[in-house]
Amino acid sequence: MLHLSFYPFPELESARLFLRRLKPSDSSMVYALRSNPQNMKYLPRPLLKNLGQAEDLIALMNKKIDNNTDINWAVVEKKSAKAIGFMGLYRSKPEHYSTELGYMLLPEFQNQGYTSEAVHKILEFAFKKIHFHRVEAIIDPLNDASKRVLEKNNFKREGLLRQNEFFGGRFWDSEVYSILDFEFELTK
Ligand SMILES: CC(C)(COP(=O)(O)OP(=O)(O)OC[C@H]1O[C@@H](n2cnc3c(N)ncnc32)[C@H](O)[C@@H]1OP(=O)(O)O)[C@@H](O)C(=O)NCCC(=O)NCCS
Repeated sequence: MLHLSFYPFPELESARLFLRRLKPSDSSMVYALRSNPQNMKYLPRPLLKNLGQAEDLIALMNKKIDNNTDINWAVVEKKSAKAIGFMGLYRSKPEHYSTELGYMLLPEFQNQGYTSEAVHKILEFAFKKIHFHRVEAIIDPLNDASKRVLEKNNFKREGLLRQNEFFGGRFWDSEVYSILDFEFELTK
């Protein structure tokens, strides 16, 4: 069984980004992301209705860090010092050395390679510090930007789960991707 420990909080840094713990003042960023129907188009999750719900979500994410269950980071653009998104590892299964990657970036910061850059650092943390064996990503098959992020980080497509989720009055397909620890070495 893998031992998960997120204390002290692991701050990460890449060429253009800092990844730090989310704080209550990030609620406007989280709300902007999770209340925007365009940004949530491929995520079968309810839209947030107010800032209070964003604060609750941040508190929940931080509680999971404190409980060493899952971890999320706020992504900060170095040049503007702005929090531009959040991403992390969740639905971790330490008994299987396995976890799942999730990410969201504000629309005005997309398509500059930021998510791919941050994901590389998160994978390095997952494989080198925590010693996960497998990181999964489960995406909507129509989410081409997300697919590109995974391809650029050497994830392999495993297959399609047909209509495995029911949300918003319809069934959604899921595409499963993964990367294993020894495949991360090949991304350098
Ligand atoms: C998915 C997401 C996080 C990607 O963030 P990002 O910072 O723009 O990602 P990157 O810039 O690192 O890479 C995006 C790639 O997708 C490509 N892309 C963007 N939109 C695309 C589209 N509609 N069709 C095909 N490719 C697309 C970009 O050109 C880029 O590829 P390239 O570097 O080869 O040119 C962002 O689009 C987002 O937050 N989406 C909404 C939330 C979401 O869907 N999250 C993922 C849930 S699984």
